[in-house]
Amino acid sequence: MKRWLFAVVAAVLVAVPAAADELLLWLEDEVQAVAAHGPWPPPVPRDPSNRVAGNAAAARLGEVLFNDPRLSADGQMSCASCHVPGRDWVDGRARGVGRVELDRRTPSLWNVGYGHWFGWDGASDSLWAQSIRPILDPREMAGDASRVAALLRDDKQLACGYARAFGAAPGKDDEALLVDAAKAMAAFQATLVSPRSPFDDFRDALLAGDKAAASRYPVDAQRGLKIFVRVGCANCHFGPRFTNGEFGDVGVPFFTRPGEVDAGRLDGLGKLAASAYNLLGRYNDDPTGRSGLRTRHVQRLHSNFGEFRVPSLRQPGPGPFMHNGQMATLEEVVKHYSEVSPDRLHSDGVPLVRQLGLTPRQSDDMVAFLRTLSVDVPPRPQPGPLCP
Ligand code: HEC
Ligand code: HEC
Repeated sequence: MKRWLFAVVAAVLVAVPAAADELLLWLEDEVQAVAAHGPWPPPVPRDPSNRVAGNAAAARLGEVLFNDPRLSADGQMSCASCHVPGRDWVDGRARGVGRVELDRRTPSLWNVGYGHWFGWDGASDSLWAQSIRPILDPREMAGDASRVAALLRDDKQLACGYARAFGAAPGKDDEALLVDAAKAMAAFQATLVSPRSPFDDFRDALLAGDKAAASRYPVDAQRGLKIFVRVGCANCHFGPRFTNGEFGDVGVPFFTRPGEVDAGRLDGLGKLAASAYNLLGRYNDDPTGRSGLRTRHVQRLHSNFGEFRVPSLRQPGPGPFMHNGQMATLEEVVKHYSEVSPDRLHSDGVPLVRQLGLTPRQSDDMVAFLRTLSVDVPPRPQPGPLCP
């Protein structure tokens, strides 16, 4: 390159200073609202319905099973086929693809250990019950209890990993072994806590009154966060995980294909009640029975029609977004909240979502904020052998 061109480029770079660190004025109630989204990460609660929850040997077995395609009927599909490790546990598709295309998007598995309802429709009340579903579903892995049980008994590594996790060799009851495999996978998935993000550094600095550190958080993200706080996104995207773990209707159309609807939570509650693996059934390991209370008391209401679980906003992956992958980017999601028509919303009572009418700059700021809830995560190494 010509010397003079270098000089010109260098001069321009010097003349335009890097955007100076800046801290907006944060009012006390805004600081409190931001504080409620941390600290991160909180301890993962131990699931009393799973006797191997928090057990490191079970988590190791669970990760191996998670990656094992032999759980599926054709030996081709593992959990990791859709929940791709190193890709925020999603597949990047609008809808999951098993043996056929599914109706819903594969959700990320980050932070599932903090949840209490699972699936977009809450059809499962534990992480282990949710992990049984894809194994048995003929549209997904199309497996069965005897296949999983035979694998645990006959594969030396798995049998040894099972004995270490559960303290006994695999038994004779196929269904009990299917449930144990799912419980080991749940123990693994509960360890998937998303890393700290730039938002967390900002939150902690703001609370500590460390202006220098807080002002390193980009000013467009600060503006976006202020909008997030002001317009009530946290009514649903609440707390450290940015979800209250419950269900809502934000006006995403729920036609799956012409003439067919996804009733969301309304159907999910029917499936939950019918499941042999719910917390009121015999596979709940909690002797107190308290873990089953939520399931016992939940009511199926007509207003549950078209409701889907409020997703966490931490580390959601590259998109698409929403239960059916209908929105390709975060820009589209923000546009949706900005323009959603009130007639689209079916919730009874006080509407929590309203048309925001954001300006283009406000929309950009909101996206900038949402992006600061994610960081790049290095690829995850394949799990090593379970036993020597
Ligand atoms: C064919 C793709 C596919 C496969 C294979 C698959 N999943 Fe999923 N997973 C999905 C989809 C789609 C959903 C959303 C299901 C729904 O809401 O109806 C989901 C939901 C989940 C959830 C609920 C997450 C949440 O936030 O509620 C968990 C946990 C999960 N899967 C674990 C597993 C495990 C464990 C396996 C292997 C035994 C597995 N998945 C296999 C596509 C897949
Ligand atoms: C009434 C509760 C509620 C409110 C208020 C709300 N959301 Fe949501 N949000 C949801 C639900 C439910 C979904 C999933 C909807 C679906 O898939 O059909 C969702 C989905 C999202 C997603 C997509 C996440 C993913 O992984 O697919 C983003 C991003 C999001 N909301 C951001 C916001 C922002 C920003 C605001 C404030 C402007 C907001 N939400 C207000 C309930 C709410």
